[in-house]
Amino acid sequence: MIQFLFNQELRSEHALDPNVTVLDYLREHLGKPGTKEGCASGDCGACTVVVGELDIADDGSESIRYRSLNSCLTFVSSLHGKQLISVEGLKHQGKLHSVQQAMADCHGSQCGFCTPGFVMSLFALQKNIDAPDLHKAQEALAGNLCRCTGYRPILAAAEQACCQAQPDQFDNAQAQTIARLKAIAPTETGELNSGDKRCLVPLTVADLADLYGSHPEARLLAGGTDLALEVTQFHKTLPVMIYVGNVAELKRVEHFDDRIEIGAATPLTDCYEALTSEYPDFGELLHRFASLQIRNQGTLGGNIGNASPIGDSPPLLIALGAQIVLRKGDATRTLNLEDYFIDYRITARQESEFIEKIIVPRAPADWTFRAYKVSKRLDDDISAVCAAFNVKLENGVVSDARLAFGGMAAIPKRAHACEASLRGKPWNHAAVERACQALAEDFTPLSDFRASKEYRLLGAQNLLRKYFIELQTPHIETRVTAYV
Ligand SMILES: Cc1cc2nc3c(=O)[nH]c(=O)nc-3n(C[C@H](O)[C@H](O)[C@H](O)COP(=O)(O)OP(=O)(O)OC[C@H]3O[C@@H](n4cnc5c(N)ncnc54)[C@H](O)[C@@H]3O)c2cc1C
Ligand code: FES
Ligand code: FES
Repeated sequence: MIQFLFNQELRSEHALDPNVTVLDYLREHLGKPGTKEGCASGDCGACTVVVGELDIADDGSESIRYRSLNSCLTFVSSLHGKQLISVEGLKHQGKLHSVQQAMADCHGSQCGFCTPGFVMSLFALQKNIDAPDLHKAQEALAGNLCRCTGYRPILAAAEQACCQAQPDQFDNAQAQTIARLKAIAPTETGELNSGDKRCLVPLTVADLADLYGSHPEARLLAGGTDLALEVTQFHKTLPVMIYVGNVAELKRVEHFDDRIEIGAATPLTDCYEALTSEYPDFGELLHRFASLQIRNQGTLGGNIGNASPIGDSPPLLIALGAQIVLRKGDATRTLNLEDYFIDYRITARQESEFIEKIIVPRAPADWTFRAYKVSKRLDDDISAVCAAFNVKLENGVVSDARLAFGGMAAIPKRAHACEASLRGKPWNHAAVERACQALAEDFTPLSDFRASKEYRLLGAQNLLRKYFIELQTPHIETRVTAYV
């Protein structure tokens, strides 16, 4: 059985197909059609809901952390122990919620199909910031598409909603909601099943390892932002899933003198917080990773686990010399991330083995790390090319270099010939031009709808030139914002 609060109502589910998304659950099982389906692929935001989770700070204080999610990519099993808030939960005692009122006052809605999603993103924004902030509003709304209003009235609604925020029914009921969430906090592995389809929801890494050992055929479900597409876009049924998002150890972020250890099921939003102070460009890149909804549910382990050649974090992690800890049963092994990717979607992961954590070295002296993403849109778009450069300079000479790319080969990959051409050479224009030529030895990229092979190679070379110029003239602002 799994249990969660739907708005303020307790729901217990046992016999439910685990392939049912929260969107379909709301509309078809609960008869709540306020949440809309636009794309069923995480691109439009019409299906946005908010999920609240109990958050216990280091000093023991308790609160609820609210995050916007795409319900079209969220399976019901991942709600276990949480609070699901849909647009129906906002109007209270016959009165519109302040974010709904702001949308109406500012004329933020015309046809209205996108409106519930915008309202829920605004609700999450209001819950997460204290003062109006255009940048935060744009970030919160980047994953919501509207074809009618032109966005300006919606941004005005965001400003009004944040300026005039007053305690609402969720704030007033916070103590009771915390008590109810504590009362339903899972104490053992949960399960959702229907016939022979099942999703198991373990709480500890040891239980996860046991379950995966006895169900090697299971698909691991983290945020589901890749996996759910198999159901919503390719109409597959996933017979057995194991949801890893309730395993506390996999959501832990630990800072050590020489490294940061990030649990594989840590949402990308939390990785942003962990990595941005150490590597500002990593933070910038994550800021351009999909939308806030996707970053709230998608995880770092899922981004590595899907082994996509255009995943954004692997090139950065490879350039930084990151490692992953893989676990099978009680046994763990540590692997350099670059050795994890073998061929297109083929990895070094064995049967019943999963990624437990990612180890990111702290920034060493003399190395300069930069990351660049080339995509057709600034927000919410997949990379045509993603480049990460990490060069160690000593007295003007390249003593070591780690350069890695996504979108240039069947796997995220280091540019070994390019690195070799730089090592031991003075860091100057001529060396960089030779390194650009060497990139053609490293990669034979493909043409697809994102970019031609010629564009990809030239783009990769130009990013290296850009990196060189930036290091020569650090005041120049040409950072991660490269887009076609
Ligand atoms: C609209 C949209 C935009 C996107 N934009 C981007 C983008 O800009 N950049 C980008 O890189 N990606 C993007 N993605 C892809 C996706 O969001 C990321 O890859 C995300 O990090 C996946 O994480 P997840 O937790 O949702 O993975 P899931 O979908 O849960 O899992 C992905 C795969 O990894 C496996 N897996 C999960 N956890 C583990 C583990 N601990 N050990 C081993 N295997 C595991 C799963 O079994 C599955 O095969 C986008 C997706 C969508 C829908
Ligand atoms: S329906 Fe478009 S993001 Fe979910
Ligand atoms: S109001 Fe019509 S799509 Fe947004």
